[in-house]
Amino acid sequence: MTPDHVSRETPPAPEAARGVFASERLPLAQRYADWLAADAVERGLIGPREVPRLWERHLLNCAVLQEVVPAEATVCDLGSGAGLPGLVLAIARPDVEVTLVEPLLRRTTFLEEVVADLALDHCHVRRTRAEELHGSFRFDVVTSRAVAPLPKLLRWSLPLVAEQGAMVAMKGAGAAEEVRAARPELRRLGCSTPEVLTLGVGLFDPPTTVVRVAPGGGPQVG
Ligand SMILES: C[S@@+](CC[C@H](N)C(=O)[O-])C[C@H]1O[C@@H](n2cnc3c(N)ncnc32)[C@H](O)[C@@H]1O
Repeated sequence: MTPDHVSRETPPAPEAARGVFASERLPLAQRYADWLAADAVERGLIGPREVPRLWERHLLNCAVLQEVVPAEATVCDLGSGAGLPGLVLAIARPDVEVTLVEPLLRRTTFLEEVVADLALDHCHVRRTRAEELHGSFRFDVVTSRAVAPLPKLLRWSLPLVAEQGAMVAMKGAGAAEEVRAARPELRRLGCSTPEVLTLGVGLFDPPTTVVRVAPGGGPQVG
């Protein structure tokens, strides 16, 4: 199925999208927006009220994560849902290898259809739970959005992070407070001190807040 039948409902890309997606990737982002506005809503993967704010709240908000993804990195997105942020990163960054991890069949079916439609050969869908990958896989960057509170996210993500890599969790305005509350877990896991970063300032409002945590090696949480 293609999303063409309802693509006119998709809001057009705002000017800010040109500052986030390279011009040759923007048509792919627009097509993904069509999938979200049509099939993702019909299949209950996102709410209809998200459609008017698809670009600012979802595509752009997620695409700015590319600022913390090194060239040619391997990326694992835990709990991708309808593809946020992992599928957006795969659209924005053809140089990275993206694995979307999602346990629910309805969601992985959607993800596989979109990946095939957009011909994103560097993007792979795995129907599994984060914990099932522990001990078998490592990635340069492990992303997530709206998947779990920070302590649980640390336990799910850090075993998947390569030695020089990082977990990058999208969090809201309460990110710094979440980091404070997670100090015992951060200490227990021996992580380096987390950074709270604000991305996309001036492009959309509110900007994206992420918590970036390296598995160790840097200044340790005291
Ligand atoms: C609230 S949704 C967020 C989806 C998407 N990241 C977004 O921001 O729209 C949380 C997702 O995490 C997935 N999930 C729950 N437990 C998980 C686990 N142990 N490993 C990987 N994904 C998980 C759920 O199936 C769901 O799709």
